[in-house]
Amino acid sequence: MCGIVGYIGKHKAYDVLVKGLHRLEYRGYDSAGIALLKDDGTLNVYKAKGKVANLEASLSGKDVEGTLGIAHTRWATHGEPNDMNAHPQVSQSRSLAIVHNGTIENYNVLKEALVQHGYTFTSETDTEVLVQLIEYVKQENRCSLFDAVREALLQVVGAYAIAVVEKDNPDTLIVARKSSPLVIGIGQDETFIASDATPIVEYTNQVIYLKDDEIAVISRKAAIQILSLENNLPSQLNIQTLRLSVEQLEKGGYDTFMQKEIFEQPSTLCDCLRGRIVDGGERVVLSGVIENKERFLHAERIIFVACGSSWHAALIGKRAMQEMCQLPVEVEYASEFRYGNPYITDKDIVIAISQSGETADTLAAIQLAKSKGAFVYGVCNVVGASIPRNTDSGTYIHVGPEIGVASTKAFTGQVTVLLMLALCAGEIRGTVRPDTIKEIASALLRMPDMLTEVLKLDPVVSELAKIFTYAHNFLYLGRGYNYPTALEGALKLKEISYIHAEGYPAAEMKHGPIALIDQEMPTVIIAPKDSLHDKIVSNIQQVKSRGGLVIAITNKGDSAIARLANYCLEIPDVPECLTPIVASVPLQLLAYYIAINKGRNVDQPRNLAKSVTVE
Ligand code: M6R
Repeated sequence: MCGIVGYIGKHKAYDVLVKGLHRLEYRGYDSAGIALLKDDGTLNVYKAKGKVANLEASLSGKDVEGTLGIAHTRWATHGEPNDMNAHPQVSQSRSLAIVHNGTIENYNVLKEALVQHGYTFTSETDTEVLVQLIEYVKQENRCSLFDAVREALLQVVGAYAIAVVEKDNPDTLIVARKSSPLVIGIGQDETFIASDATPIVEYTNQVIYLKDDEIAVISRKAAIQILSLENNLPSQLNIQTLRLSVEQLEKGGYDTFMQKEIFEQPSTLCDCLRGRIVDGGERVVLSGVIENKERFLHAERIIFVACGSSWHAALIGKRAMQEMCQLPVEVEYASEFRYGNPYITDKDIVIAISQSGETADTLAAIQLAKSKGAFVYGVCNVVGASIPRNTDSGTYIHVGPEIGVASTKAFTGQVTVLLMLALCAGEIRGTVRPDTIKEIASALLRMPDMLTEVLKLDPVVSELAKIFTYAHNFLYLGRGYNYPTALEGALKLKEISYIHAEGYPAAEMKHGPIALIDQEMPTVIIAPKDSLHDKIVSNIQQVKSRGGLVIAITNKGDSAIARLANYCLEIPDVPECLTPIVASVPLQLLAYYIAINKGRNVDQPRNLAKSVTVE
């Protein structure tokens, strides 16, 4: 939530910053702003409500010179999205400007104290409080900008990644982080900072991920000093090489990122599987599990923590882990777990799933689980993000940057990794038969081809979407492994089309939702030929006999379902535990085309942000 970017060097900061804001716009798009510092000490701050394009349009003819600058794209937390609440926020004397991602929890107390000292406020943001506090400390203590930022941050409770510039200090950029990500990119006589590496990658692949409670002073000649906020001692510069290319961040001929990400799934699944299925498809090897063999061998319980689509993937993981590891498995919303006073022991393995690796609730759940002695395993996509750095071990899904706000390729990657995790841990525990491992592992290797096959449904789904674009409500039903697929299908539709959709276990429908069924409300039923096939045929009959319209996701040649459903989308036959991967693709396409027909911005749906770094 919120993206920050900064530049100090020899080139015009504006160009780097605006391009960077476009890359970070997936993190929030309520408003955007930029502060540019010229060598003569002029500090120009520009802000605009809405998307980065609005900011750019508003800057035509304005002075955008300067080789030091900071910029921000906002997902509003404190105060409505408007120009006043947009960042950068400036201090009372207008000598300091700040951009901030996170929330200052004690901002009210700090604000009251500052008001006592004669400070007035023009915005409703917690960020303005922080910049005023820095100014106050600086004036009171007659200290350097660095000392003032550090001293102010020691008074702050909350989460932040910040970048601060000072009018009379055109050679210095100060950044700091606590619980919100911040990456420093090291160029030739220039330095970049950003919430993630995407604005940096086209200039340099040398980066430092700032750690929690670190503050950095970056000076013009690319000199970087990182210190501990707490004791002011210098930290070592841990420079890493990015494995990210600019092409991965572009639409590559597709209309939207979401469409690209749906169609990339055959190749992203290849990347996800690479090197993990060995011995000619007979075994699964995940290094994070193998290196912690004893933990998996002696585990007494698995608890998944996640949010949104990652939580849906966890429900599929639960079923697989139960079956293959013969362990009790629980799935918790990270936001509930963290405040639920959960009973956790050192025999528990807590598996945190997160595409971004930055979700605040999931991070907090991890800290809680660790504090109670659990072994914490991460399943993430973004390499080097906070969650993989805060877990004991883990597996990356390696599906490449997901930029569309709706999770698509990350979801199928997560499910794939969780199935591999269940097989690998099950083998260690001796709870899954070798022929089962072989059957599923070799089917996993065929999944990229299966997805290529499923994607041929694209024109059919596009036509189907025309029929249902103007429905006001949808019901999604599934059973067993595909109850979570139904939840995921419903979430996809509601988040990008704004149509109300509910996912339900098919058999639960008769306990309430069946009352909603009429000709106006389509029911999407995931009904592959699995162990619950006969049951779901009855569920379809129940919908049909009440006049409902059924769109069924079925296997090829399933005449029982074809006779009942109004429309069928056929998916290839795969082992039962893999059906969510193939079945979720037509659901992604259905949501996509309905949203496009409604004229929605599918990559940046209203009110949402890709990475939810606030509670
Ligand atoms: O980055 P995470 O996987 O932790 O994100 C969790 C949710 O915010 C995310 O899955 C969200 O629900 C997506 N918009 C779903 O498409």
